[in-house]
Parts: sequence; structure tokens; C-alpha cells
Amino acid sequence: MVLKKPLFFLLHLLAARQIADQSAPEWDYRDTNRWIADYPTCGGAQQSPINLDHYNSVGSLKPALKFRNYAQPLAGRLTLVNNGHTADIMLPETIRGPRPTITGGLLNGIYEAQSVHFHWGSPGGGRGSEHTVNGYRYDVEVHIVHKNMIYGNVQEAMQRPDGLAVLAIMINIADFPQSFYPGLNRVFNTLPRVRAAETNATINSQLSLNHFLGDVDTRNFFAYRGSLTTPPCSEAVTWHVFPRPLLVSRDLIANFFELRQKNGASLWNNFRPLQALNRRVVYRRKGGN
Ligand SMILES: *[C@@H]1O[C@H](CO)[C@@H](O)[C@H](O)[C@H]1NC(C)=O
Ligand SMILES: [Zn+2]
Repeated sequence: MVLKKPLFFLLHLLAARQIADQSAPEWDYRDTNRWIADYPTCGGAQQSPINLDHYNSVGSLKPALKFRNYAQPLAGRLTLVNNGHTADIMLPETIRGPRPTITGGLLNGIYEAQSVHFHWGSPGGGRGSEHTVNGYRYDVEVHIVHKNMIYGNVQEAMQRPDGLAVLAIMINIADFPQSFYPGLNRVFNTLPRVRAAETNATINSQLSLNHFLGDVDTRNFFAYRGSLTTPPCSEAVTWHVFPRPLLVSRDLIANFFELRQKNGASLWNNFRPLQALNRRVVYRRKGGN
């Protein structure tokens, strides 16, 4: 009987701790080195982003990326969410049923599209891409996140080295862009409706995933194995990065700079610093079909 109370107390503590663990610790971009304290994987040896170097990549990767259902309209309206870290779009299925998928490149297996989000810089010319190419940083980087179809959901896929595939599309600001990207424009024009963190807005037009690729040259890419660029930094991502940027007008990109974090501060420079390549190989594919 003497033991009963302390034991109860201990169990209570354990339960409270489990509940606490379920809500992940907050993080931001002020000091990304501190992520490791709460998310040890952020200190791993296969982290992203990295600098992609023409002269330090293996140019022998032959398979092209193959896109399925990328031209199919997505079913229903898309919701753009300011989650305090980025502007995020959860992707529904297509009107035909299946999700858009990618295969080929460095991938083994079929990966289905889950979400799209963005990384950007700050007003006055601060650039915000995560990956750099030969040391060059772009203005904005778009991430289309895909999940390996053999895993049930993103949470499960994050635990597996072959769980996720992310396509990275670069955007640069141009004063007189020659191309017009109606889908991306819809998204950028919706940003002023999600200025505050934890708000969302519906994008009122029927988009397909091709709208997010614009006219990017998908035959040209760098590919390597890395991680999520935000906590928990899971080393579960096969990256394909297209180095030729889309050009978008300055005022549309400026819409990103209006977004705010949960504490009310401006959401600027939401890109992670470059990580060490360590023993990894970067593959390069150039042109062809
Ligand atoms: C969007 O906002 C509404 C109202 O604040 C909320 O009820 C809903 O859960 C949000 N949806 C998403 C996808 O965050
Ligand atoms: Zn990202």
C-alpha cells in the first residue's frame, strides 16, 4: 500500500510525457543549428539542402522522369494554408481518381503527389532558394512532395530511406517575364489571403500539377538522396532539382513577403542553410528524352 501512491504518480508522469511528445516542439529559421536539440536527425550525414555542382556530379544518369496524371485536373478546390513556416497546398486526387505520380530518374518505384509548398527570401533582393547550383541561389524554390506508393501515409514514409520524392522547381524574379504561368499566378495571387499564420484560403480555379511545373525543362536535373529541409529532417527524400528557373514578375513574388509566422513576425528567408555533401553522390541528367 505504501508503494501505491508513488507508482501512480510515476505512471501519471509517463502518461503526461507521452502526451507532450505528441505535440512537436516549435522551431523557426532564426537559428537552424538549434533544430538538432529537439530533432537529432537534423544533425545527420545525409541532410538537405546542398550545393549542386556541375563539376562534382556524376553525369551518367540516363532514365528520364516520367509524369503520370500531371495533366489531369485536380478534383475540387485547392486549399492554401499558411502554417507559420511556409505556404502549403495539400493535393487532392485528380478528377479521374488516381493521384499524379512520378517514376524514373533516381527513383525505384512509383511516387504519388501529396503537397506543394514554397521557400523564399526577403524584400530588397534577399534570395530564398534552398538548393544552390554552382553556388548560385535563386529567388524562390517550389517543392512538390511525393510519397512512395508502397507506404500507407506520409508519416510512415518519413521513416523509410525510400519513402519520399521531392521535385524542386526554381523561380527567379524578372522585370519583364516572357512567359505567363496561370496556375502559379493563381497561387501567388491567393497569398494575400493567408497573411496570418494558421489561416487558409481556397484557390478558385481548376489546376493540374503541370501548372506547378510551368514550362520547366524536366529533362535536365540534379538528383541525390537527402532529407526533409525542415524538422524532423528525416533522411527519407530522393531529390530531383531542375536548375533552369521559371521567370515570374517581381510583384507576384513580393506577395510571399507579406506572410507572417505564428508569433506575428514576418515570414522571410524560410530556407535552411546548405548542408555538407559528405560521402554522397550527386547525379546529373542533361537533355535527351
Ligand atoms: C481553414 O480554416 C478554417 C476556419 O478557420 C478551419 O476550420 C479549417 O480547418 C482550415 N482548413 C485547413 C485545411 O487548414
Ligand atoms: Zn520544402
